[in-house]
Amino acid sequence: MTFSAQNSGVNSERRLLVTGGAGFIGANFVHYWCAQYPHDRVLVLDALTYAGNRQTLASLDAHPQFRFVQGDICDRPLIDALLQEEAIDTMVHFAAESHVDRSILGPGAFVQTNVVGTFTLLEAFRQHWLSRDRSADLRFHHVSTDEVYGSLEPADPAFSETTPYAPNSPYSASKAGSDHLVRAYHHTYGMPTTITNCSNNYGPYHFPEKLIPLMCINILMGKPLPVYGDGQNVRDWLYVQDHCSAIDAVLKSGKVGETYNVGGNNEVKNLDLVHLLCELMNELAPDLPVRPAQELITFVKDRPGHDRRYAINSTKLQTELGWTPSVTVEEGLRQTVSWFLSNEAWWKPLLSAEYQAYYQKVYA
Ligand code: NAD
Ligand code: TYD
Repeated sequence: MTFSAQNSGVNSERRLLVTGGAGFIGANFVHYWCAQYPHDRVLVLDALTYAGNRQTLASLDAHPQFRFVQGDICDRPLIDALLQEEAIDTMVHFAAESHVDRSILGPGAFVQTNVVGTFTLLEAFRQHWLSRDRSADLRFHHVSTDEVYGSLEPADPAFSETTPYAPNSPYSASKAGSDHLVRAYHHTYGMPTTITNCSNNYGPYHFPEKLIPLMCINILMGKPLPVYGDGQNVRDWLYVQDHCSAIDAVLKSGKVGETYNVGGNNEVKNLDLVHLLCELMNELAPDLPVRPAQELITFVKDRPGHDRRYAINSTKLQTELGWTPSVTVEEGLRQTVSWFLSNEAWWKPLLSAEYQAYYQKVYA
């Protein structure tokens, strides 16, 4: 087994367990991996919470190396069994409760999945790793967020790997807790771990509760576009495909025990982003209920504890591993808007009674 396997068309080289592979980034990663490395085994473990969508992976069911298991990352016997029976060598851990607004409404699930779930995976993987031949090239890769670093003032330098952790929401605090556990498992036990901390992603299969899909869908439905506070908060946007290629680079050539920041160097104020989405929809959507879509912009009560600005410095990943983002924010947003326009059959069923109840709680 070698981590330098390329898209070479040779036999199965790597055996991945991807947690949270039915969610937004996990599913994009699974599609990316199966296309890039068709001979690698890809086992997805996902609890199919409200954010998980089996349909997103349906086109892979015919793929001979793909397998889906519905289950919880807190279920230790299940994890042990999967690691062993599939002889997993690479864990790519996406599964999480991921939405800040939901973490404000109910933080318990965030501690359970993000902290206890990650701990459960680490313990299972440690036992699995100890039971394997020491020459085996194993890896536990943990997918995390820039939000663990807290909030920046306008003139502050972007977050680097040495920025102290200062999480502000129950979501980011639970992700920080999981990062610390992963780090400790390398430091204490020598376990072969890597971590990526990425900025805000966008692209296909993004659940409607997040800013970009929510705005796209509300524009298509002629509903108000709720901008929190003054709309001047800044996020650093990365097209999801570039996040997948960054994780690929870290799995291939990242140093164990290391953390790599991933970002697109695309800082945009929320209000500017919403205007951009409106312009793209005005151009690309033939039958908008409200045109121009900008008329739908509505300022609403701010999110409690709303972080003002995130920005990521990904110099380490770029200089040490040669990764660069390939999609500009203009291209990526255009592709994303087009995707939501062409894939109503994917997003419409997600606007369920549960989603409406959540929406009422946050926006009423
Ligand atoms: P998501 O909410 O779209 O998907 C999460 C997935 O995890 C879902 O499929 C869900 O069913 C699954 N899941 C939740 N709890 C589980 C459990 N207990 N056991 C098994 N599966 C469970 O999230 P996402 O946006 O795809 O984020 C994926 C990862 O990337 C998360 O760890 C998140 O913190 C991180 N991240 C996200 C962003 C972003 O912009 N979305 C940016 C940086 C990092
Ligand atoms: P979000 O997509 O929830 O990501 P995160 O909070 O993890 O950065 O939100 C992105 C930004 O958009 C954030 O500053 C909050 C803001 N926002 C709104 O203004 N209105 C909304 O309806 C949502 C969901 C987010």
